[in-house]
Amino acid sequence: MVETYLGIDIGTSAVKAVLIGADRAILAEAETPLWTSQPRPFWMEQDAIDWWLAVETVTGMIARAAPESWRTVAGIGLSGQMHGAVMLDRDDQPLRPVMLWNDGRAEREAAELQSNHPDLAEVLGVPAMPGFTAPKLLWSARHEPDIFAATDVVLSPKDYVRLRLTGTRASEMSDAAGTWLFDQAARGWSRAAADAIGLPFDKLPLLTEGSDVSGLLRFSVAERWGLRPDVIVAGGAGDCPAGGVGIGAIDEGDTFLSLGTSAQLFRASRQYRPRPERMVHAFCHALPGRWFQMAAMLNGASAFAWVAGILGRDIRTLSMDVESRYSGPSDLLFLPYLTGERTPYNDPYAKGVFFGLTSHTTSEAMAQAVMEGVAFIFADAKDAMAVADTSFDGIGIIGGGSRSVLWARIIAAVLDRPLIRFAGGEKGPAFGAAALARMAKTGEPPEAVAITPPITGVVEPEPRLVDAYRPRVEAFRRLYAALKPEFGRL
Ligand code: XUL
Repeated sequence: MVETYLGIDIGTSAVKAVLIGADRAILAEAETPLWTSQPRPFWMEQDAIDWWLAVETVTGMIARAAPESWRTVAGIGLSGQMHGAVMLDRDDQPLRPVMLWNDGRAEREAAELQSNHPDLAEVLGVPAMPGFTAPKLLWSARHEPDIFAATDVVLSPKDYVRLRLTGTRASEMSDAAGTWLFDQAARGWSRAAADAIGLPFDKLPLLTEGSDVSGLLRFSVAERWGLRPDVIVAGGAGDCPAGGVGIGAIDEGDTFLSLGTSAQLFRASRQYRPRPERMVHAFCHALPGRWFQMAAMLNGASAFAWVAGILGRDIRTLSMDVESRYSGPSDLLFLPYLTGERTPYNDPYAKGVFFGLTSHTTSEAMAQAVMEGVAFIFADAKDAMAVADTSFDGIGIIGGGSRSVLWARIIAAVLDRPLIRFAGGEKGPAFGAAALARMAKTGEPPEAVAITPPITGVVEPEPRLVDAYRPRVEAFRRLYAALKPEFGRL
């Protein structure tokens, strides 16, 4: 019988879903936006219930778009924004809005955890930073003790959706990896980390591998959605490793960068290789016996969406206008730290900055500077990863920002490396989640399913731009260094 697989990605700006067939072709796709609330400076929150409503919306859209293929769904894979703290009571009800990956409120708690437990970074894959689950839970224990005490289970964002789909409180290795509560080498929860924040160990969910079955779709959901009664839900993955599975970045040295709401430089590995000094994250991959190293930056294509928003322009036309006028580096510099930064600075206070504005500055010049500022953070990411013994040849590019050829040209020049674009690269995580569902259902080996999609183009670094951008990257770094003390005072 023909079987299809559904991948659902709980992103930050949208929930996305793709339906794939046996030949890995995308049969239908859907997307619905999400809103983030920022009730105070440094706070970033979403309601878990909104994710579920969005899942209902996108699945409805897919069912209508491809009704035949929808009825043959055999497995669902989940991917999602990492590090969110979903705190549920004993009846699985959310106790508070979810503190997200880019929430900077737990700065003090993260610093304390790091200085009181310096050895844990090596075990947990990364030093404690404010956006991770554990420091935010410690913040909750201190500022809202009743909520912390009532917490019966802590889940990652996509695992809340799993709970609604299957009734199972479970996570998998690659998302657990981002909680700062997880022993990366042992692939299990860390009692030492849970003790460090006073979290009873039994508040942590069951763990599976991403390519294993985590549960069966509830009968009531299957019936309402018009699906078979035996649909499995795979472990799935955090959005970064799911993106890796989607483009076949599962083997030693496979490297890609992701330009979504956030930005990452990611390299798959067959070994656990922690190098916490430069804030490189060493986490479990979504497949057994595999890990990855990642430079994680908090501001990616979201910075371009921000500038388009404040200029009152549509993202697509603004990007086309920048592209049509582009001749080389702009005179402006932009620091893209709109929500602080993780790799390489671990600086929740860092801010966005335009430098060099004149009375001649146009909106297109500002938008170009934003693209460049985001490109420059990949130079920092590359350097941080080099400290972790990582070198690169060709680098894949995925995420919504990968649609812009100009942006890819600028990043290729800044990194002085070719960037490889893939068919469907902007759907990476949802596609990877669907691939994990297929592995869980069929038991096929990762090499047979997590394969590189067709390459649609290679963006070579242009020597003229490589030379022109080199001094701009240095100026960008000097600007951050000069302003760093001011950010803390703001
Ligand atoms: C990775 C990270 C983000 C989120 C949201 O460390 O914080 O990529 O997963 O996409």
